[in-house]
Amino acid sequence: FHVKWEAAQAEKGGYDHFMLKEIHEQPRALKDTLSGRIAPDGSRVVLNEINIPQEQLQQINKVVITACGTAFHAGLVGKYVIETLARIPVEADIASELRYRNPLIDKNTLVIVISQSGETADTLAALREARRKGARVIAVTNVVDSSVARDADDVLYTWAGPEIAVASTKAYITQLLSMYLLGLYLAQSRGTLEDKEITQIITDLRKLPDKVASILENGTNIKEFVQKHCNCEHAFFIGRGLDYAVAMEGSLKLKEISYIHAEAYAAGELKHGTLALIVKDVPVVALVTQQALYDKTVSNIKEVKAREATVLAVASRGLEEVAKVADEVLYIPRTHQMLTTILAVVPMQLLAYYMAVSRKCDVDQPRNLAKSVTVE
Ligand code: G6P
Repeated sequence: FHVKWEAAQAEKGGYDHFMLKEIHEQPRALKDTLSGRIAPDGSRVVLNEINIPQEQLQQINKVVITACGTAFHAGLVGKYVIETLARIPVEADIASELRYRNPLIDKNTLVIVISQSGETADTLAALREARRKGARVIAVTNVVDSSVARDADDVLYTWAGPEIAVASTKAYITQLLSMYLLGLYLAQSRGTLEDKEITQIITDLRKLPDKVASILENGTNIKEFVQKHCNCEHAFFIGRGLDYAVAMEGSLKLKEISYIHAEAYAAGELKHGTLALIVKDVPVVALVTQQALYDKTVSNIKEVKAREATVLAVASRGLEEVAKVADEVLYIPRTHQMLTTILAVVPMQLLAYYMAVSRKCDVDQPRNLAKSVTVE
């Protein structure tokens, strides 16, 4: 009797793939990202690693966020969060675009560079271009002493732990959390939020790890949807506001590992072209977590239902009316309206994962893709 010992299998900790293991590590990763960054009384965010002089903070008149791939999608959430909390205009731009367009960046610009590996060639080049133009640069990265960390003025480590699967999950969720921390940090230093608003957001932030864990315990509905749709060729993701940013990440995850053609659309933009592609049985994943945009998104779901699409809604608890229009609904726990991204992305990751598994794809090492792209 011979037992073949495979180190990689052991490292997967009982999971079939690194991606699934890493999805399940997210509650722990979020706790680690938060650890030491909240004042003991829960009244403020404390980012000791960021040493921007108060005077310079006051002079910042623009924030530019730059990154590639999944990290860029975290940047899109960052734009929304920082603009809302700190009331500073924010541009989010793909690093390979920013580096070549002579961007309007100067000493009053705060540049936030997001990179899991800290080694992506385009991201590093964009960082250097920003510094050359005199901007203060904060790196949000997962790898200690990576190139991006070394070249930035300040570093906010995401503490997700090593991520092996090419498709990013726990690194992304900690990048999202970092955007909230930076948004609160900037809001605190610029006095744009009332103390009680800060305390409320922090209270809700701290509950997120347990809420992510509760979503993970409850993954079976997704498997049913996957069984019905794993042979589809196209899929669409729709949402408004923050839900649109998460839709983009959901669509990227699906195409990266299951090779299904997937597109994300701002739900209000559907009628300007994409609706032409919505035909009978096409799966549409609709994100419905924003109370303020609820009615608008529901009417977009009705639009695609009228073309006989199959709609899987991912909705916050409390928005249960969506069950009347969608074919299936996966509920995520309630949280602060601005924090839903961290919960809504989890069903997106599981959907992509189980689709890829049922299509017998190489989940952890999808064709043509690399974990870190260190050449242009
Ligand atoms: C590659 C990876 C993606 C990642 C992107 C940016 O494309 O496959 O998962 O989002 O690079 O990588 P970074 O390390 O800079 O976050």
